[in-house]
Amino acid sequence: MCGIVGYIGTREAQPILLNGLIKLEYRGYDSAGMATVTKGKVSVRKQQGKIAALSNLLKKKPLRGTIGISHSRWATHGIPSQCNAHPHTDCSEKIAVVHNGIIENYEDLKEGLIQEGHIFKSETDTEVIAHLIEKFYKDDIEAAVRTTLKLLKGSFALGVILGNHPEQLIAARLGSSLVIGLGEEENFIASDTSALLAHTKNILFLEDNEMAVLTKKSVAVSSFDGKAIEKKPTVITWDAAQAEKGGYAHFMLKEMYEQPSVIESIVHHRVSEEKSGVYFQEMKIPGKKLKCVEKIAIVACGTAYHAGLTGKYILETLTGIPVEVDVSSEFRYRKPILGKDTLVIVISQSGETADTLAGMREAKRRGATVLSIVNALGSTMTRESDGVIYTHAGPEIGVASTKAYTAQLSILYLFGIYLGALKNYLNIQRIKKLLTEMEGLPQQATQILANHKIIQKISKRHHDKNCFLYLGRNLNFPNALEGALKLKELSYVHAEGYAAGEMKHGPIALIDKTMPVVCIVPDSATHDKMVSNIQEIKARGGIVISIATEGDKHISNHSDYTVYIPKVRELFSPVLTVLPLQLLAYHIALRNKRDVDQPRNLAKSVTVE
Ligand code: M6R
Repeated sequence: MCGIVGYIGTREAQPILLNGLIKLEYRGYDSAGMATVTKGKVSVRKQQGKIAALSNLLKKKPLRGTIGISHSRWATHGIPSQCNAHPHTDCSEKIAVVHNGIIENYEDLKEGLIQEGHIFKSETDTEVIAHLIEKFYKDDIEAAVRTTLKLLKGSFALGVILGNHPEQLIAARLGSSLVIGLGEEENFIASDTSALLAHTKNILFLEDNEMAVLTKKSVAVSSFDGKAIEKKPTVITWDAAQAEKGGYAHFMLKEMYEQPSVIESIVHHRVSEEKSGVYFQEMKIPGKKLKCVEKIAIVACGTAYHAGLTGKYILETLTGIPVEVDVSSEFRYRKPILGKDTLVIVISQSGETADTLAGMREAKRRGATVLSIVNALGSTMTRESDGVIYTHAGPEIGVASTKAYTAQLSILYLFGIYLGALKNYLNIQRIKKLLTEMEGLPQQATQILANHKIIQKISKRHHDKNCFLYLGRNLNFPNALEGALKLKELSYVHAEGYAAGEMKHGPIALIDKTMPVVCIVPDSATHDKMVSNIQEIKARGGIVISIATEGDKHISNHSDYTVYIPKVRELFSPVLTVLPLQLLAYHIALRNKRDVDQPRNLAKSVTVE
């Protein structure tokens, strides 16, 4: 939540900061602001609303200077308003601060500062930081920030500038991500690498309890208590074009249509030519250790949690190892029973989700081995887990997760096959068959995505309905949850995902002639049970939208609409059945004139609890 960009160098800071903020807007978009230093003076511009509103303000009142910080906000303390937008300044307006995270003890700190005569202008927790730095500042900005950091409880990524020190930009991190980009005669800070790709691919990742002093020529990293820390830059392989819309109307649309190539590249890079094995070069957890795994626990949030739920079916089928799945915010507090033979798999697009990170740390504390399945290169989860498998889906900018999900599922299939082979649970014939079938998935996905006319027709007829129900069974039950989540977050239409067998235990009461019910019913062991569910829905006047396998006439006879997917083994069907669900949510959101890439109240990375 919240995006931070900072710059120090020889170029004008404003356009660099603004372009960086645009790349980070998906992290928060209720207000935005910027501060630069010129002639010893800090100047601030801020505006409620999206970055475009700040950009308009900057056209009228540009900021000059070659050092600056900027911020796009997702409100935690204080309503979205110009006054609560960052940067925040001290009483003298010489110190400016941008912050991502939450200062949990800000009320106590604020009270003390008010008693000492400080005057506050906003309702935010962040403003205390500017006043504390002011309080401790005696010619040395670094020392003042260091003293301030010791008093802060909670989580933060910070960027600080001071009018008296136009040659220094200070950054600090505890619990919220912050990266440093290294340039020639210029350096940068940002919440994540996507803001910096246009300028540099050489990145230093700040860890918790670390701060950095940036000048245009140097970056000095130290611990909060002043010990110098040597860091080697990581070279990021993503390029700037991947973070652009590339001619699509929305990032989400582009990302949905990238799915066939993402799946193809995953299979291509991880599977041996003769389809006899799977490789995870970067994973680091030795095969010997994985061979001893007796239990798997999957921990994730949102869409990644749905990938985890599907992962339970996948991994149990392919490895014979029992799997439990938790949403991270429950897992971290429920005192999970884990041992050294437990493999905890955390799944996350961003690798920065606060609850998943906390779950991961709890798992490690309890002695489990942690494997992360993550998209964002170099993110905190990838650095703190025992091993990582990258989904390599490229930057996902749309707030609604699409290609990250199908990439997560693809990795789970491959990891299941890898572990199943290690455990001698799968024989070579079965492995070859499965991997050969996986090779066909990209082509099948392309076919489904091309068939959007039927989805547009359904959206046109039913975009105004108040509520949708999504039903699935077995491997396709999690996709019922995922389809409902996509519709809710994009269209603000209420949607419920249910295991179809549960329909008669309550949700059936909702069904009438105004209720569209999306039934995920590919060829599967539970196909006939789903047919009975569909008949029960029709008997009560419900509108049935079925996702079925090509040639399934029986389903189309009972459904108002049938969206076909190609014939595929049930195990692999979720990676295909989710595609029409994503398209449906997208087209309903368009019809309802929603902001597809930046739905209200959401942020791409949930970095606070
Ligand atoms: O970055 P993560 O995968 O850890 O994020 C998890 C959820 O916040 C995310 O999937 C969220 O639910 C998306 N908005 C769903 O589209």
